[in-house]
Formats: sequence, structure tokens, C-alpha cells
Amino acid sequence: MPETDASSTDFASTTLARAAEVPVPQADDLAGRFSLTANPSPVTEDERAAVLRSLHFGDAFTDHMAHARWRQGEGWGDYGVIPHANLSLSPAAAVLHYSQEIFEGIKAYRHEDGSVWTFRPRYNAARLNASARRMALPELAEEDFVASLVDLVRADAAWVPSGEGESLYLRPFAFASEAFLGVRPSTVVDYYVIASPSGSYFPHGLEPVSIWVTTEYHRAGRGGTGAAKTGGNYASSLLPQREAYAQGCDQVCFLDDVSQKNIEELGGMNIMVVDADGTVRTPRLTGTILEGSTRSAIIRLLRDSGRSVVEDTISLQGLLTDIESGRVSEVFACGTAAVVVPLGHLKGEGFDARIEGSEVTRQIHDRLTAIQSGRAEDPYGWMYQLVPPGAETTSTRSARSA
Ligand SMILES: Cc1ncc(COP(=O)(O)O)c(C=O)c1O
Repeated sequence: MPETDASSTDFASTTLARAAEVPVPQADDLAGRFSLTANPSPVTEDERAAVLRSLHFGDAFTDHMAHARWRQGEGWGDYGVIPHANLSLSPAAAVLHYSQEIFEGIKAYRHEDGSVWTFRPRYNAARLNASARRMALPELAEEDFVASLVDLVRADAAWVPSGEGESLYLRPFAFASEAFLGVRPSTVVDYYVIASPSGSYFPHGLEPVSIWVTTEYHRAGRGGTGAAKTGGNYASSLLPQREAYAQGCDQVCFLDDVSQKNIEELGGMNIMVVDADGTVRTPRLTGTILEGSTRSAIIRLLRDSGRSVVEDTISLQGLLTDIESGRVSEVFACGTAAVVVPLGHLKGEGFDARIEGSEVTRQIHDRLTAIQSGRAEDPYGWMYQLVPPGAETTSTRSARSA
């Protein structure tokens, strides 16, 4: 996991991309699986407006959260949307000791008519389950995953911002909550979705970021958990990330752990290289890279615009030589949070390379964000309507009656 058919580099050949193609029932048909217990003291309309006026990333949360609990022998139950609150957890909860946890990141976008949409939710549902298999956690039915987003966003629709580049960031996660110190998979697992209104990653337009390529640390190893979205991968990226800051860089890039020569990905984004001849290359999914939903969508958009996109082994040395010679004209990173980011500077022990170009990067950023924001038609059926236009939300209802 994730699988790529060795015979094909077709974008649809991965398990996750195939899963994302399966139609999801309409939100009205899924709504209500996570029944609502309304927050008795939601933030006031004025407080919410103040939060929405000054958005950052990941530091403000809505009034509710979705929850379900799995018990061994019983399966999933206790589905609900409940008030967002601190959790009560035993200090012996297995997640605190052995990191048995997984998470996802997906956004809800407000369109001009007031409706709220998300992007390829079945992709994230399938990836959560792929991560669950690797981390010995129970899988959640894909439709229940989507239902949890529908019910939470319907409860907190008033929190979905409408400015350019703004969204409601949704963070589904599941973790081992059994109070038990033995090292084995937990018999109790909690699933939550919390929501955080977030601002444009680049309020002043697309700005190139600088990258520290670490040759000392690896994010993932063969047979490890690199292809899963699990906290430990991010914990191990923090020290090299700190090293990147100390080197004056914004982000860290990891190499593979076997040859220690090939580019894998950033701590939280996939990488793409644009050649001067128009070809786009991205590292092959080797089992140590997280297969991004944004990566997959971009491959599709680029191929459909007539470009050749190659999933390949990209050596650091080759990349530096090609930047120097002009064979590579752009390098960019992609992921849900920032969408698309030009990389302007690659630095590491013994090298310091500048990349000037960002034309293709901008084109792909504009094309993808136009689809996500509803400004452009979505020929792929990627967008999924969570909330119809004009829907009354719990938050607006309670704010009115307060
Ligand atoms: C390690 C890593 N790589 C790549 C990505 C990009 O994935 P996506 O495009 O699904 O957000 C992410 C973000 O989720 C990530 O954490």
C-alpha cells in the first residue's frame, strides 16, 4: 500500500485513485447517520465573525465534532455529532504510549451560491482505511466517513468561510483509546472529526518556499509506515524540520533511506518537477511516500492538458544538475493545505540551488483552485456537495435563538 501497477503509470492505477472514482451517495442520503447533540453554548455570532475575519491555520475550531467508537467484537457504534470539547482519556490510553493512530486532512469550500462542497472524499476515506490496515486499527465504512463530514459540516456550516483561498479544514482521526499498557492493537478505538476554519495559505499570492534537503534523517523506511498517514511519521520529521529552520529554510525534503540519493517528499507535501520540454516528473510511489490526493488530481489535470507526466525515480544529484543546466525549469510541492507551492530554493550539505520558474505551477494552482472553489466546471466529478445552497444550519439557528 499504496499499489501501483508495475506495468502502467496511468494515474487511475492506484488503489486509492480507483476507490475515489466510485460514486458516493448524495449527502441527503447519508445525513443523519451521526445524529446531532447541539452544543448548548456555541460561540456567539460576533465571536465567530471575529474568527472568520482573521483566519490562520489550525488554531480555531468550530462548535461541534463528529465521533464514533469501535469496540472489539462489537464493531463501530455511538455515532454522533457532539459539542467540540476536550477529551477525557486515561493516562494509560494506548495511543499515548505506542502511537497507534491515523488521520486525514480534507477541506470544505463555500461556493458563490452559499453551498458547501468537499473534494474527492472517497479518496480520503480509502486512504484512512489504508492507513488503518497498516496501523492495525479497524477500518470505517467509506460511506460512514463521508457521512461524518456531511453531518459535521451541516451542523457547523456557518463556520465555512467564503473568502478567496479560505476553507473549513476537516481533520478526521482515529486512535487507540483502550487503557492498557501491553503492546498489542487496542480493543477500543475512537474516531473523531474536528473542523478548523482556515485562511489562504498565501494571502499575498503564490510565494516560492525554500527547502532544506536532509541527508541525515529519513522520514520513512522500507516496510515502515511512510505510506500511512500516522502521527509518528510527522513526529520524526520535526527535528529535521527544526534543522531546516536553522538553515533559513521553510520546509524539509526527505531522500529515500536505501540509496539515500532519491527525492521522496516534503514533511507534508508531494513533489513535482517540471522539465523545460514540458514533461512533469514526480517520485514513484515506493511504499515510503504518502500518496497525495492533490498529487493524483494534478497528474490527471496535467495529462488531460496534453502534458507527459512520468512517475519516476528522481535523484537529488540529477535534479541539481538539471536545475543548473536549465533542463528543469520549475519544481513545486502539492498537498491539501497549501494546494500548490513553487519551490524557489533547494539547499543541503554542499549545495545551494535556485529555481526561478513558476509558470506551470501557477497554471496548475489556478486550474485546481478554480474547480475547488466552484469558479470552473468540474468535469471529473471530484466535487461533492455537503450542504445545499440556502440551508439553515445549527449554528445560525442557535445564534438566532440566543
Ligand atoms: C507526508 C505527506 N505527503 C503528501 C501529502 C499530500 O497529500 P494530500 O494531497 O492528500 O493532502 C501530505 C498531506 O496530507 C502529507 O502529509
